[in-house]
Amino acid sequence: MKIFVLHGPNLNLLGTREPEVYGAATLESINAMLEEEAKARGVELKTLQSNSEGELVSAIQEAASWADAVIINPAAYTHTSIALRDAISAVGTPTIEVHLSNIYAREEFRHHSLISPVAVGQVTGFGVEGYRLALLAALSLDDK
Ligand code: DQA
Repeated sequence: MKIFVLHGPNLNLLGTREPEVYGAATLESINAMLEEEAKARGVELKTLQSNSEGELVSAIQEAASWADAVIINPAAYTHTSIALRDAISAVGTPTIEVHLSNIYAREEFRHHSLISPVAVGQVTGFGVEGYRLALLAALSLDDK
């Protein structure tokens, strides 16, 4: 199984960005944890972070030719990007949405996700653990 992990805007700043909201882990450490989990389970993993909406759209399109599942933290684009939603919907690769914080317990503008209706499911509010849960969820898709 091949899994593509996509990180959206400002997630490159994890570790220093509002640690009281997003925790102290860096993106590098999250990716390292995922790589380790994937390796232990014999899964191939590729990761990408981008601050650019277009780059994320292109990455989703390109991954359609090789990825069995996508794990995405769309960050702020969760709440704004019809383009990302359309890309996920267009390619049809099973996609799991992840948020470090519980978006429903935060500001009103974060309560709505444009991505959820085209995702298999959403993991929100469990910090870094959410990525591990998303990986397990992606693996379970293989049995479906
Ligand atoms: C986030 C939540 C979003 O509302 C926010 O814009 C982010 C990170 C999260 O992981 O909690 O950048 O996706």
